[in-house]
Amino acid sequence: MKIEALALGLALLIAAPAQAADAAALAADHGCLNCHGVRSHPHEAPLLKDLAARLGRRSDVDAAARHGLEELREKDSVHAHRMTSDESALAILRWMAQGAKMR
Ligand code: HEC
Repeated sequence: MKIEALALGLALLIAAPAQAADAAALAADHGCLNCHGVRSHPHEAPLLKDLAARLGRRSDVDAAARHGLEELREKDSVHAHRMTSDESALAILRWMAQGAKMR
């Protein structure tokens, strides 16, 4: 490994982001935010804030995430929905249920 790559890796490790930031990155990596955007919602996808508000209405974050996962699996015409593992989806949905904070 090149020394610069090693240094960058260490820097990233040291600056380990909070859990919320991890989930935000996960949502971005899985393309969720491309459709469930902050301001625009192509393909009639519900906006992130609306998804978050709806999931957040449930008092139990884990139950909200599981419910979100069921909805996500029902909407299986969306490629990104099909491509996401249960594990990743639950992490993202839990983040959404907690208000989808970017950091
Ligand atoms: C290609 C665009 C697109 C991407 C990418 C995408 N979605 Fe969706 N999503 C949609 C659309 C469109 C709907 C609404 C479908 C409908 O109501 O028939 C939807 C619905 C949902 C719903 C159900 C909301 C409801 O009202 O029933 C959840 C939860 C959801 N998406 C989560 C996610 C997550 C998490 C990701 C990332 C893994 C993601 N979506 C990626 C387009 C997308």
